[in-house]
Amino acid sequence: MYGPKIIEHFQNPRCAGKIPDADGVATIAEGCGDVFRFYVKVRDNRLEKVRYEVKGCPVAIACCSMTAVLAEGKTLVEAMQITNQVVEKALGGLPPEKKHCSNLAADALYEAIQDYLYKRALEGKTSPARS
Ligand code: FES
Ligand code: FES
Repeated sequence: MYGPKIIEHFQNPRCAGKIPDADGVATIAEGCGDVFRFYVKVRDNRLEKVRYEVKGCPVAIACCSMTAVLAEGKTLVEAMQITNQVVEKALGGLPPEKKHCSNLAADALYEAIQDYLYKRALEGKTSPARS
């Protein structure tokens, strides 16, 4: 029922976990109880580290794992171009009934990057002396 890449990432998820001192965090929680939370650590405009916590089905876990693998090391601009479609393609396609709900990892990553950018903008406003 699931393709080999989905099974492989579900059985051996990469980059799982949290970043306690993350620069950006975002959570997408669906009404059914599924949760996707992404953490990013940023250095020199690049995603130095990407981690996630997920509560969902095997496909959701595989999507989180693949999203983190695709994103780590990328510039912020590159990482913001990782869409749900990019993740789906990298996993060799998703079962039709899983396309929406299980594939929210890229959205959560995008939101985590926005969180970082927002905090950085606020920092700039409150610390005018910083160069
Ligand atoms: Fe939970 Fe779809 S069933 S997000
Ligand atoms: Fe809800 Fe996959 S995350 S069915």
